[in-house]
Amino acid sequence: MRAGFMKYFGLGLIIFLLTLLLISAGCYRKRPSDKPPIHLNPNMDRQEKYKAQSESEFFEDHSTMRQPVSGAVARGYLREDTEYYEGKNAKGGFINKTPVEIDMNTLERGQDRFNIYCSPCHSRVGDGRGIMINKGYLPPPSFHIDRIREMPDGQVYDIITNGVRNMPSYRHQVNPDDRWAIVVYVRTLQRSRNATIGDIPEEKREELK
Ligand code: HEC
Repeated sequence: MRAGFMKYFGLGLIIFLLTLLLISAGCYRKRPSDKPPIHLNPNMDRQEKYKAQSESEFFEDHSTMRQPVSGAVARGYLREDTEYYEGKNAKGGFINKTPVEIDMNTLERGQDRFNIYCSPCHSRVGDGRGIMINKGYLPPPSFHIDRIREMPDGQVYDIITNGVRNMPSYRHQVNPDDRWAIVVYVRTLQRSRNATIGDIPEEKREELK
């Protein structure tokens, strides 16, 4: 009798202890604690450091945010070639001719980009009657007036890059290569309005009649 009781008591105790262990293991995970978790291999995970936008007692301006040394240039952003990147020569004047090589690909790319980024206002033929004008936007001048026909290529490039008066900048939408391709295409549109029969190769003239 006594032995039987001890047997059941022993089993009961084991089950009780196991249950207690499981419950407390569950509690252990959920209980908030201020102590850092046990971290067997800390490496350099925890260290003294400044966080961005916090206060510093070390620097004079009490900010942890440091400015780059003046004149620092991010890698790949030197852009020394002002003709290509700004359309200007070293003295700051607009260059007359596009510095990139022109072939059929340049023209097609220019046409594609022009129709996307410029034609809403300037229209596909550059007469300044794009769809935006019907919506009340200020009409831009036609590309076929003498003043714009005589503009240096570098200035047209600059207008795309920085905008002009009421026209917004397209610096972020159109990269430098594409800007030059658009310049070439604007020149093509201008030429097409002022072409003479002499501009057409002789063997093609027949097709016009
Ligand atoms: C949102 C409408 C709009 C778009 C898009 C636009 N332009 Fe213009 N553009 C204008 C307006 C408006 C003017 C006239 C600015 C003024 O004189 O106030 C203008 C003027 C110009 C001029 C003549 C500047 C002068 O000195 O008279 C050129 C060249 C030009 N744009 C080229 C472009 C090219 C190239 C693109 C495409 C990359 C383009 N524009 C896209 C609205 C636009």
